[in-house]
Amino acid sequence: MCGIVGVVGKPAREVVLNGLKNLEYRGYDSAGIYLNDLQGHEYLTKAVGRIANLEEKLAPEEEGTTGIGHTRWATHGHPTVENAHPQYSEDGRFYLVHNGVIENYLELKEKYLAGAHFKSETDTEVVVQLVAKLAKEENLDAFSAFKQALKLVKGSYAFLLVDNTKPDHIYIAKNKSPMMLGLGDGFNIIASDAISVLDQTKTFIALNDGDCADVTKDSIEIQDCDGNKAEREAKVLDIDPNAASKGTYEFYMLKEIDEQPAVMRRLSTDYLDEAGKPVVDEKIIDAVSQADRIYIFAAGTSYHAGLVGKEIFEKFTGIPTEVGYASEAGYHFPMMSKHPFFIFLTQSGETADSRVVLTEANKRGIPSLTMTNVEGSTLSREATYTMLLNAGPEIAVASTKAYTAQVALQAILAKAVGEKLGDQAAKDWNLKQGLSLAAEGIQEIVDGKEKIEELAKKYLIPSRNAFYIGRGIDHAVSLESALKLKEVSYIQTEGFAAAELKHGTISLIEDGTPVIALINDPVTADLTRGNIQEVASRGANVITIVGKQFAKEGDNIVLPEIDYYLSALLSVVPTQLLAYFASKNKGLDVDKPRNLAKSVTVE
Ligand code: M6R
Repeated sequence: MCGIVGVVGKPAREVVLNGLKNLEYRGYDSAGIYLNDLQGHEYLTKAVGRIANLEEKLAPEEEGTTGIGHTRWATHGHPTVENAHPQYSEDGRFYLVHNGVIENYLELKEKYLAGAHFKSETDTEVVVQLVAKLAKEENLDAFSAFKQALKLVKGSYAFLLVDNTKPDHIYIAKNKSPMMLGLGDGFNIIASDAISVLDQTKTFIALNDGDCADVTKDSIEIQDCDGNKAEREAKVLDIDPNAASKGTYEFYMLKEIDEQPAVMRRLSTDYLDEAGKPVVDEKIIDAVSQADRIYIFAAGTSYHAGLVGKEIFEKFTGIPTEVGYASEAGYHFPMMSKHPFFIFLTQSGETADSRVVLTEANKRGIPSLTMTNVEGSTLSREATYTMLLNAGPEIAVASTKAYTAQVALQAILAKAVGEKLGDQAAKDWNLKQGLSLAAEGIQEIVDGKEKIEELAKKYLIPSRNAFYIGRGIDHAVSLESALKLKEVSYIQTEGFAAAELKHGTISLIEDGTPVIALINDPVTADLTRGNIQEVASRGANVITIVGKQFAKEGDNIVLPEIDYYLSALLSVVPTQLLAYFASKNKGLDVDKPRNLAKSVTVE
């Protein structure tokens, strides 16, 4: 979603622009930068569309040793230059960039800013005008006025504020939106995601909700809104900056699909010992073992990984498991069992919808685990426990390797808990071998990608809509596969429990409608074949993705044989490739589909 980069103490233009470019993958529709050279010159430039448009507008002399920049994903108001950030106060003194949503901005506008003139439709402008008003009317310095304003503001925010009467400072505030403070030698840098400024520093302070900070090139003072000082620990992040580069790939999405064998091997090495025993924090195993019900909460692709996880947890731990959309559970909290345990699946660790549920769980004292790809992310910090996906940075908006990592990591945890509970199936489960087969199997699939590209070109690209069908875990995968195809190719696609089509949706099948059938469930393989007949006889172009043990002549994609409970690790991969090739061959921006953001930090 929106991205923020700010720097104080060194030439800021390139640092801010490069940082914003590194955040491009998160999705945005306008960008802006404010620079101040501390010699009385300041520059504000904003543009709609890509950062390249912003760069084109920047004059050569526009430079400064204080700079704040922003990529905006429109919420309040259209993507226009006026609505792009930085927003500034009517008196021209304060400049503000903002990630998040101010819930009471209309109320603030009416109550405190009745006579003010607004240039934009944004909630952010209300805050910067409020700071200016408080500074003027109450004769406050910038930091005090900012903190005073924050006491009135309700909502989520990561703010960077510059006061042009004291431009060697950047003031920061954070609530519910991520904000990292990077420590440099003679400069400091602030970013909504550390990955964007790893070329500048690897040492970061993660700010907590409620933190405000006054940052200069060689000082950092962290306080709450009431001025109480706070100490926050700096950590050196162990992230390889090259892991986030595209290398020779045209798109990140394909790179990340191709990385999945390595991700499977890494998870196996990191979480299973030589003998295949899970290496999982005993506290986590104990906490889950004591639960009478597991609740998995997530959004989008992570939710779909949770649906597979449910099957795995129930099979190998015997603990009933429910999966819920975080966005629904936050405000319609499910009825709880006596000893619930919550698992949050989130690639980014920042999804606002999931965080609402976690906050409520914390209030109720429910133990929780976040499975995330981002160390130090908000959901990881706030849950009782964390397990890292170790999939490496995922940059493409469409999640691929994080999904397979989530499935594999849930399997590892299920085995660990099942063994603890004495479950024989868990004890007998050779997961080490399973993950090794998954790695080899994925490799085989990605090595044969040309055939999948042909299928995408022949059947998907000419069509406006498509269906995925499957039963059991295949149903869960069909939902994920449909999401993947629609999000990157814009072909309207739905995933269905195979037998459900005939209860209504089959009316949509006409000549040439692509129906992609997944067959990996031993119990229902033959039944799904019957469902294929039903759509084929009504004109559908059927593509089959079938485990080797169930394959028949004429099947399109035959997957290497693997345990049913790990079948999602293989069956999802051709569907990721179908989505990728449909998008690429339609000439679309595969990594940055329209209207989408990588990390969804608003509810
Ligand atoms: O970071 P998270 O896993 O919490 O994100 C959840 C969804 O926003 C995400 O999976 C989204 O559905 C993907 N872009 C789909 O590819």
